[in-house]
Amino acid sequence: MKNTQLIGPFKQLVPMTGLALKGPIADKELVVMPYAGLLVEDGKIRAIGKFDELQDKHPEVDTHWLEGNHVALPGFIDAHTHICFGGSRADDYALRNAGKSYLEIAKAGGGIWDTVTQTRKASQESLIKNTAKLANRHLKNGTTTLEVKSGYGLSIDEEIKMLQAIKEADTKASADLIATCLAAHMLPRDFEGMASEYLKEISTKLFPILKEKNLTRRIDAFVEESAFSVEQIVPYFKKAQQMDFDITVHADQFSTGGSRVAVDFGAVSADHLEASTQTEIDLLAQSDTIATALPGASLGLGCAFAPARKILDAGGALAIASDHNPGSAPMGDLLTQAAVLGSFEKLSNAEVLAGITFRAAAALRLSDRGKLEEGQLADFCVFHTDNFNEILYNQGNFKPCMLWKNGILVYNK
Ligand code: NIG
Ligand code: FE
Repeated sequence: MKNTQLIGPFKQLVPMTGLALKGPIADKELVVMPYAGLLVEDGKIRAIGKFDELQDKHPEVDTHWLEGNHVALPGFIDAHTHICFGGSRADDYALRNAGKSYLEIAKAGGGIWDTVTQTRKASQESLIKNTAKLANRHLKNGTTTLEVKSGYGLSIDEEIKMLQAIKEADTKASADLIATCLAAHMLPRDFEGMASEYLKEISTKLFPILKEKNLTRRIDAFVEESAFSVEQIVPYFKKAQQMDFDITVHADQFSTGGSRVAVDFGAVSADHLEASTQTEIDLLAQSDTIATALPGASLGLGCAFAPARKILDAGGALAIASDHNPGSAPMGDLLTQAAVLGSFEKLSNAEVLAGITFRAAAALRLSDRGKLEEGQLADFCVFHTDNFNEILYNQGNFKPCMLWKNGILVYNK
């Protein structure tokens, strides 16, 4: 028997439908449905429309009645996180604020390597528990899908340990976790001076295991002077492409080069982009690669935001993600960060919301979420208000009162 229910009425329902994947979006383009309802069946949206009309058309269906003012939006999608890790880098944060740079700390043996050491020491059970715990924290901010990267293992066994932990955490968290292999996050100390050898070992030995054990369909690399050069990463991505992995790139964080590689390989996304110039902006805008801004890394490192306005004006597709990680982006609050980026970069509310819904879904190549329309997953967040503009206006300090995942009420405050 089918499990069907009508949810509403919503004072406003913002389905994020009918909007372009690329380029600017004016607020007036947003569809805002007054006094609306969602008809949900077996975890998916069967119909969306005027609440009274849905009630009249489906008198047999149970109603989940909402008293008072409620606004519903698609569940937020955080397309870039590193929430599977051991330890903390609170001391790095203090050092950075006292004047040391992120790259200086990394060169002195701290930074990402410090988290690698602590993650290798951590048991798989503790990684599972902590990852699920952080995912549940994100859920309370409205996030129903989170990408989670490995990249603190940096050996075949340790990367497998992380990716298995992410897979297991997915079964424990209410949100969906999408795993990505970031074995090319930095050169592990035991391969000093042998970047190509390390990447070859990963691509020839780990990639087949990822396929065989169904651990991920996505490969990421940090293309940067302190990590891997363009020349080093090209054969790695060639192998990933041959094996039919989706490619995503940590690009243009401190220096350019990464987004060029991303576009050349038809990457699903190029993320960071704080150092992108008009050349990289135009390249991305003319491609199918989603440009993902990570305001949490700018806030964590105290540096410039990615040129989000320019990316949109050039015709690019802009997603916004938290980059939540123990080093550069410890805050882990997508809604706050997206709202702040909107205010600094002069993005319309429609552009910000697009960046954390359907444009973020595209960055993960997920076509079943990010919008509220027939056939999509019934993933949505509900806020206690009569005006959806209150959500970004409160810059993250106004939290959802309900979260629905696959048509199930998973959080209700
Ligand atoms: O996206 N830039 C490289 N990787 C992460 C930071 C990871 C860390 O500092 O632990 C990022 O910012
Ligand atoms: Fe990152």
